[in-house]
Amino acid sequence: MSKRYFACLLPALLALSANLMAQAPSLTVQVDHPSAKVSPMLYGLMTEEINYSYDGGIYGELVRDRVPARGFGGMAHWMLVARGSSVASVSLDEHTGPSAALPRSLKVSVTAATQAAPAGVQNDGYWGIPVRPRTTYSGSFYAKSDSADVPVTVSLVNDQTGVVAAAATVTGLAGEWKQFSYKLKTGDVPVTANNHLILTVARPATVWFDLVSLFPPTYLDRPGGNRIDLMEKLAAMHPRFLRLPGGNYLEGDHIADRFDWKKTIGPWVDRPTHPSPWRYRSSDGMGLLEFLEWCQDLKIEPVLAVYAGYSMQQEHVEPGAALEPYVQDALDEIEYVTGSASTRWGAERAKDGHPAPFPLHYVEIGNEDNFDKSDSYDGRYAQFYRAIKAQRPDLQLIATAPIKNMTPDVLDEHFYMSAEQSLSDAGHYDKRDRSGPKIFVGEWATREGDPTPNLEAALGDAAWMTGMERNSDLIVMSSYAPLFVNVNAGAMQWPTDLIGYDVLSSYGSPSYWAQVLFAGHLGTEVVTSTLSNTGPRVYVSATRDEKHHKLFVKVVNATSGTKPIRIAIEGAGNLARQAALFTLSGKTPNATNSIAHPQAIVPVEHSIQVAGPKFEQNFAPYSINVLDLSY
Ligand code: AHR
Repeated sequence: MSKRYFACLLPALLALSANLMAQAPSLTVQVDHPSAKVSPMLYGLMTEEINYSYDGGIYGELVRDRVPARGFGGMAHWMLVARGSSVASVSLDEHTGPSAALPRSLKVSVTAATQAAPAGVQNDGYWGIPVRPRTTYSGSFYAKSDSADVPVTVSLVNDQTGVVAAAATVTGLAGEWKQFSYKLKTGDVPVTANNHLILTVARPATVWFDLVSLFPPTYLDRPGGNRIDLMEKLAAMHPRFLRLPGGNYLEGDHIADRFDWKKTIGPWVDRPTHPSPWRYRSSDGMGLLEFLEWCQDLKIEPVLAVYAGYSMQQEHVEPGAALEPYVQDALDEIEYVTGSASTRWGAERAKDGHPAPFPLHYVEIGNEDNFDKSDSYDGRYAQFYRAIKAQRPDLQLIATAPIKNMTPDVLDEHFYMSAEQSLSDAGHYDKRDRSGPKIFVGEWATREGDPTPNLEAALGDAAWMTGMERNSDLIVMSSYAPLFVNVNAGAMQWPTDLIGYDVLSSYGSPSYWAQVLFAGHLGTEVVTSTLSNTGPRVYVSATRDEKHHKLFVKVVNATSGTKPIRIAIEGAGNLARQAALFTLSGKTPNATNSIAHPQAIVPVEHSIQVAGPKFEQNFAPYSINVLDLSY
């Protein structure tokens, strides 16, 4: 090519290259002009008794239906044990129980039994009872007998081999109901899930049992506390609050089946248990105090949902005099949570073993009251609002449906979305009027995958979270739902749940890991981030942590191709050359984790060098990324 010819072409080539540069995918982050504060409570947890979340889930109890009952939560998991020549029967005795709250019991009638041929009952747990080596299990039961001091042997037995992993003998049974405790200590046994608990006698007698309990070691060793692996997973999510106790579980199908908190406190023997809307009976072992202790274990605060006079089968309580007892229950509940031990309900909490009050800033009035066709929520909310604010003006009161005649402090909005919806609606709050109530996204999820969400769902979730973060001046809190699922057949009522488990192990879904990444890099202020020429299905949010001079840039690439993006960090002063890139990605959107493959999709951390305030970074196909930069 002649020099002259090249000289002619040069301007065109320069223009073309400038044009290409301008069209290259780019991201500009303006660090020195924060647009809003990040809500420090943006990420939290929402739970309820669904999918065996508490019983058979995070609540450590290993005995299923520890209170035998009629209907669901009946005797299905209690079976007769009659070894060899023993003769015995088991039934539900409707006429005797250890307390007014528990008027029934298991009646075991043994007419023939010996040491070699004992008889009694067994419980198969929540899809098995886990046994681990060198572990101490703490148990108790209530019992009485028609025969003086008939010893009861309690053993943990393997379903397949019949091998006894641990056993203890309890003596002192008499004609009156009494509580007994026992410990089961395993030796060098293998880890197994398929075990059952048996209680037997070795001579003829009639023995009644109730509230048979067995706990493994719990998180922070709290007696009657929570399962360790699940609590560790929650702690890793950096949550700031726990919305409790539901969800539909708060409301119940019927008013009588609501979460009636006063029936969930005190000794277990005074808790009558209740049917949950998710078709199994709740032991109420996870009562109000246990919820609060769960918060304390994680160093987070409760977002307390109080029953507000609506249950799901379209039963409601008219505002006015009829609603007053429910309002009083809510006031009492707030006092139980926050009152000093010198108040009526604070004293009750102290009696239950927790003299110190718990922190509380948010109270939610009901749940999803938009489903109440009686149109009574405006009146119900106003009545609760007036009564609570009169005593506790400091509390923020969350409405669960828009209110016509007043602006609630906070409005709870729920989103259950397909991946297409969460991707296309990631900017949902970008243009929301700031003069209305603050927003609590109290339930949200991208529902792809079953029982736990797959990578496609996680991409939708991450895109949605970029939107929540950008708008966290408005969105004070958010919580994914549902949180838990027991993955055994028959345990799940609601597909697509964040964390799955069986009796031995648990795993986080890709959506779980997306939240770990986002909440672990929250920042304190939103900074402007602008994408250009990336094409569709790429999302961003950026925050800085003022105190620690950190910049967190979240980039979601929901496309099937690698995205090379030119990044310009403006106004950061001295940008450190060393940075970290956390990436959660997979080969296909269907990629997922499961109980068998718990670690297929997990975040990977790379140390990267950035050339300066302008650098190029590749983002993998189907990836959720957090750039952790220091300045
Ligand atoms: O998260 C499952 C259910 O979805 C909740 O109980 C209810 O609030 C919502 O409809």
